[in-house]
Amino acid sequence: MRIAPSILSADFSKLATEIERVEAAGAAQLHLDVMDGHYVPNLTFGPMIVEAVRRTTTLPLDVHLMIEHADTHVDAYVDAGADMVAVHPETLYHPHLALTEIQKRGKKAGIAINPGTSFASIEELIAIADYAIIMAVNPGWGGQKFIEGSFERARRLRRLAVDRETSLSIEIDGGMNAERVPQAAEAGIDVVIAGSAVFKADDPAAAVADMLQAASV
Ligand code: DX5
Ligand code: ZN
Repeated sequence: MRIAPSILSADFSKLATEIERVEAAGAAQLHLDVMDGHYVPNLTFGPMIVEAVRRTTTLPLDVHLMIEHADTHVDAYVDAGADMVAVHPETLYHPHLALTEIQKRGKKAGIAINPGTSFASIEELIAIADYAIIMAVNPGWGGQKFIEGSFERARRLRRLAVDRETSLSIEIDGGMNAERVPQAAEAGIDVVIAGSAVFKADDPAAAVADMLQAASV
């Protein structure tokens, strides 16, 4: 299992140091939450920050787009250094096309699935997406409470992917911490995304190490 710290809860005045510390502790990728103040009320950052992060690390950058018209911004995020780009299918008229456009740029394409989204509506996308982010909170803010039942949704998604004979990396995003990591491992989750549990901890590096340790027992 891979741990992906979400920089949303990091101290942006010392972002490079924060990233170096979690990387040294074993984080396998970084999660970057892009919010536009429209699709979600919160407003975070755009390609400039992604590009700045790109210069601080060689870790894969997973850019989670919580924005309207995400398809028209894919190129900007890929140019900024994203290795993986995830979209919320409900924000797009043509989500299938958006995923293929990301892949045409040689990057991994993801679908972010909200707690209220029915799998029936995204089943066709499972066949082409490289990864899926199961949202265990409603998107918009770090530090929210984990919604129970999210691991079960991850299991159902895995069964759908197996039925369609497609390999899908499954990530879980929101309310995660070391205590919940064993359940995530049991549910077959590939990547645990954690924001506040890492960057609001006294020692973010120790928090990553704790999560890795919890994944291995
Ligand atoms: C929420 C974001 C998450 C957020 C997770 O909209 O997609 O990635 O950073 O933060 P925590 O781990 O604090 O719930
Ligand atoms: Zn996210």
